[in-house]
Amino acid sequence: MEDATIHDVLNGPATLGDQKRVRGWVKSRRTSKAGFSFVAVNDGSCLADLQVVADQGLPNYQEVTALGVGCAVEVAGQVVASPGKGQSRELRATQMRLVGPVADPETYPIAKKRHTFEHLRTVAHLRPRTNTFGAIARVRNGIAQAIHGYFAKRGFVWVNTPIITPSDCEGAGELFRIAGPTGDGFFGRQTYLTVSGQLNVEAFCLAMSKVYTFGPTFRAENSHTGRHLAEFWMIEPEIAFADLGDLADLAEDFLKNVLGEVLERHAEDLAFFQARVDANVVTRLENIVTSSFARLDYGEAVDILQNAGATFEFPPQWGRDLQTEHERHLTERHAGGPVVVTNYPKEIKAFYMRQNDDERTVAAMDVLVPGVGEIIGGSQREERLAKLDERMAADAKEDLWWYRDLRRYGSVPHAGFGLGLERLVQFVTGMDNIRDTIPFPRAPGNAAF
Ligand code: 4AD
Ligand code: MG
Repeated sequence: MEDATIHDVLNGPATLGDQKRVRGWVKSRRTSKAGFSFVAVNDGSCLADLQVVADQGLPNYQEVTALGVGCAVEVAGQVVASPGKGQSRELRATQMRLVGPVADPETYPIAKKRHTFEHLRTVAHLRPRTNTFGAIARVRNGIAQAIHGYFAKRGFVWVNTPIITPSDCEGAGELFRIAGPTGDGFFGRQTYLTVSGQLNVEAFCLAMSKVYTFGPTFRAENSHTGRHLAEFWMIEPEIAFADLGDLADLAEDFLKNVLGEVLERHAEDLAFFQARVDANVVTRLENIVTSSFARLDYGEAVDILQNAGATFEFPPQWGRDLQTEHERHLTERHAGGPVVVTNYPKEIKAFYMRQNDDERTVAAMDVLVPGVGEIIGGSQREERLAKLDERMAADAKEDLWWYRDLRRYGSVPHAGFGLGLERLVQFVTGMDNIRDTIPFPRAPGNAAF
């Protein structure tokens, strides 16, 4: 008897008449008076459950009729056409084994069909068994694989930048401090969890030309929004001999390709999100793939917002950062799709961004998308040492002596961006809260699992 995933039984390569063995968890069971039990089993390989038909001829039929939600089972049988609605194939069981019973069915936390996402966050160890969180896990994995595939095809080298860093001067938000067993002294100096791999990956960019990071990053901001996590995964490509225009082109091509692949490979899960979570899931992705991204100068964006005739909680003003409400106006109302905003005031952006000739802006770029707002933040980097020094604080110059070195030895124009993986998962699935896009979310007051 050959093992198969439920995906393969339902969609091939298994064919009608095959004998297969599957393993998974019971989603539901109903037993008919005619001596049949219909057991829906899921193993995570796809959204759909496999309907297993067991009849009273099975030696342990009594046990089968007592199977409840969450029980782990192993079933051997024949793949047959299903007369039932909603599936084309089912498995006619010749053997069914209870591998792992549910200790106390009354208290199984996800026994009911529907739960609020808030409740499911309190049972994060069991929520992967629900349709929604299974689909999120598959789509998240699909996005990650598509990202690695995109870069691999184009000759980028994946560089694993450190998670523990001595540098607290990137300016990308509050840092978590690391304490060793005997206080802060383990590394001979204070260290932190990284907020971004960018500064380190620049060193590799200026040797390997096309590189990217893909790893966890940490920010100790006390934000309680549906768009912030204390631990999230970031993808940061960095390209040499490139300017801001090249970077915007890369960001657009990258998102189009990655999302195109996700549309193609995850049709079943996306249809589920469209039906249950957000009715625009598929059209939103198709729009990204087929239309070109609007590009706006920051100054133009502020003008548009000021003349929008809309009331904002924060009145838009040149020199202030764009708020989520502004970002959503630009994408949802003004452009009806993604927008790349460039050339922000230098006062509100990091020291490493390249100064423009106008003396008041830097070559920064944010990619904004409907629903989520900022999904990508990046810039052309300041490659001129004198210009870089103008914007570096004294302690930063000391700490980041090696970063300054990169501007002394073979410096070239280069640029890079950071994409928040969870923001992208949010955008793809339509999930409202970012805490539902990562397996075990970390947010203020919340690290239980
Ligand atoms: O705009 P950010 O802060 O940019 C950087 O960290 C640069 N070093 C990136 C670079 O140029 N290589 O963050 C980049 C992206 C944001 O656009 C957002 O998608 C995501 O990371 N992000 C977060 N996602 C979840 N929770 C948070 N607290 C996030 N902060 C940023
Ligand atoms: Mg940003």
